Amino acid sequence: MTNTAGATERASVPERWALGHGFVPKGRYVDADFARLEHERLFPNVWQMACREEEIPNAGSFHEYAIGERSILVVRQADGTLRAMHNACRHRGMKIIGGSGRVDEFRCRFHGFRYALDGACTFVHCPEEFEDRPAADWALRPVHVDTWGGWVFVNMASDPPPLLEWLDPIPSLLDPFRLEDMRYRWCKTVVVPANWKTVVDAFVEGYHTPGTHPQTLRPMEGTDPSARPAAIDEFAHAPFSPTFPLGSHSVMKYGERPDKGPQAEEWAAVLARPEIYANLMQYLARALGAMQTERDARAAEMLATMEPSEVPPIITYLGLCKQLAQDEGVVTYPDMSIEQHFMGCGDYHVFPTMVILVEPGSTLGYRMRPNGSDPDSCIWDVFSLEHFVPGAEPNPKWEVFPNWREADLGPFLAQDLKNIPDIQAGMHSDGFDGLWLNGIQETTILHAHQVADRYLFGVDHDEADT
Ligand code: FES
Ligand SMILES: [Fe+2]
Repeated sequence: MTNTAGATERASVPERWALGHGFVPKGRYVDADFARLEHERLFPNVWQMACREEEIPNAGSFHEYAIGERSILVVRQADGTLRAMHNACRHRGMKIIGGSGRVDEFRCRFHGFRYALDGACTFVHCPEEFEDRPAADWALRPVHVDTWGGWVFVNMASDPPPLLEWLDPIPSLLDPFRLEDMRYRWCKTVVVPANWKTVVDAFVEGYHTPGTHPQTLRPMEGTDPSARPAAIDEFAHAPFSPTFPLGSHSVMKYGERPDKGPQAEEWAAVLARPEIYANLMQYLARALGAMQTERDARAAEMLATMEPSEVPPIITYLGLCKQLAQDEGVVTYPDMSIEQHFMGCGDYHVFPTMVILVEPGSTLGYRMRPNGSDPDSCIWDVFSLEHFVPGAEPNPKWEVFPNWREADLGPFLAQDLKNIPDIQAGMHSDGFDGLWLNGIQETTILHAHQVADRYLFGVDHDEADT
């Protein structure tokens, strides 16, 4: 890891940003100084998801990945491989191109210098009028690039760890889900008035489910349950979602509370009824438009007509989902054991900017990036990936919502989004010092800050704790 911080400066975390046991000071979300450190020391040194491979399918296809003030181009080469490079002309620094598209070469429109797809400089106007400069020094400065799960990742560090090593153990857990064979169902970008981590935190724990999504506690009401706030006794029905570190990353699992009380037993019996479980799946398919697909909703309709049996509804449901997909010709649909299913399914925080909620038929994904240098604004990309019949992929365009109030994300994600500006606003209050985190269901948040401290301050919490 390269880092620009001086050795003495990096010896410890400044008091105002120091993590406690289950405590995260609010300055890490609201201080402009902290945001500046993230741009100086974190983002230039970590692997970050830039785009999907299918977004740059042909020779000359390019995609700009912007993070804060930095811009990187990912470019498909003539031989099908990928290259990434800083998007800054080596003459006077002009940003060469933005967005995404396809080119034969890059041309800087300031003085007309040209660059090949691999970044080599192929044309300098009046080269004899320059001081000698080695040709390689005119080339766009390269950035490390690699792929996993169908995503293209970039890393600006000079000598980063291999991508798969960095992601370990996520690739082996998710290999059976064939993420690389999924394609976008829909993809949207929302500018949100909150720190990028405030948005990450809202999607890496399930502890907020009864508070924010009370309708998920009421599948017995049908496929369109009421969203009235949960009464206190309904909290006993809340899902239990323990969180675990996975190297530099973390996962939230869908679990069963170990200390089940009588109410939880009662609730388990309710969910064991096929039609009740089916209601929940149908609701999620419609309200979220992700994780459970439209095809899965049809599987749930079939489940709803079945008699209760020894087989838990989820097992019957998974079998029906797979059967329908295969019958329709979805050749990439995962073929995995039930153990692989439960090992893999979960809500992953791929540190720092990516979150994926993985199911066999669909993955709901997010990317949260700072919006320039403003600690109170972020760019939130939201997408659903599915397995499709070959040739039937919809290839949607990114829909962009500069005003979060106009974002059309469906009723479920709207509940999360509505919270976020108020969370950020509340963090600025004099009545708030920082986050006090649930030690089982919110450890993902603390873990991400601990990992960040390695980059920001050279402090390794793993070593400090052992
Ligand atoms: S800045 Fe690009 S050609 Fe001069
Ligand atoms: Fe939520």
